[in-house]
Amino acid sequence: MSKTIKKTHFLLFATSNLHKIKEVQHFLRDYPIEIKGVDLKGKEIQGETVKEIAEASVLQAYKKMGKPIFTEDTGLFIKLLGGFPGPFSSYVYNTIGIAGVLKLLESVKDRSAEFRSAIAFYAPDINPICFLGTSSGKISIKEQGIHGFGFDPIFKPDDDKNKTFAEMEIEEKNQISHRTRSVRKLVTWYLRHYK
Ligand code: IMP
Repeated sequence: MSKTIKKTHFLLFATSNLHKIKEVQHFLRDYPIEIKGVDLKGKEIQGETVKEIAEASVLQAYKKMGKPIFTEDTGLFIKLLGGFPGPFSSYVYNTIGIAGVLKLLESVKDRSAEFRSAIAFYAPDINPICFLGTSSGKISIKEQGIHGFGFDPIFKPDDDKNKTFAEMEIEEKNQISHRTRSVRKLVTWYLRHYK
């Protein structure tokens, strides 16, 4: 059982995705940082990399909130499709969806893919700073599992080849996820910078 850590730092997380907030909050149980999710209802910024998108979003978010804030952008990069949908993951999820992605990979052997998460943080005393986290794995043949969100039901991380992310409780996904890896970097940097 983890002991309760006193929260001495406070940060805003600009996102409309409650799953992301839950995952980050869960990770932060062991750190003195508290976050609050804010849904700024901005138009999703397009860009060529998740880093570019996260950095542009954080500046937009800071303009609205005027307080230290971070954003996170994730893309699913499928090797055989030359990295598609990558920075267009949200669009693809909302259009062809998981079924469409599985169709694109029908009878394909090499199902390697990678989630890339970029977190961008901004506060007035620094330039925007970005942290990347990845998780490599395979696209499953069919949807499996009920947990998580987005492409979780079709992503089997290499760290646990038997399950998709959607077959894991938040605790398990958080041990190996792209988002945990980028958040961990943010937290390490933040606690060093703002002692
Ligand atoms: P976003 O632009 O970061 O919100 O994410 C792009 C797309 O990837 C959206 O359709 C999300 O649902 C999906 N996505 C983001 N993070 C994850 C994840 O951790 N697992 C599965 N799908 C995700």
